[in-house]
Amino acid sequence: MTEKIKVCHREELELDTRKVISAESGKEIGVFNVDGEYYAVENACPHRGGPVCNGQIQKEIKAEWRGPGNRIEEIISSVPTIACPWHGWEFKLETGEHIGDSQIYVKTYEVVVEDDNVYVIC
Ligand code: FES
Repeated sequence: MTEKIKVCHREELELDTRKVISAESGKEIGVFNVDGEYYAVENACPHRGGPVCNGQIQKEIKAEWRGPGNRIEEIISSVPTIACPWHGWEFKLETGEHIGDSQIYVKTYEVVVEDDNVYVIC
């Protein structure tokens, strides 16, 4: 059964912030506003269950190795991520995918804005 939970009024979720809410099922969900886009992620890291949504909001960094003797070039992308505060595992906010292993995910949820209120569908 899906649940539609009111998170807050749109103005309460300022740019580059998050709110962690509790669903009736007991699970916690972090709802993020990054660059004006909304994302929702379960607050349970697939590594050891850490509060991933309390971590640092970042942008994915891609590194390009250019061979022996050359520096690794790092490029900061526009892909928002969240880094788990316990051991640093990092996940893409949009898909929940771990940045280094596409087999590992944190659960994500749909976010909708209606009448200037933010809701998560879970
Ligand atoms: S519990 Fe999240 S990285 Fe270990």
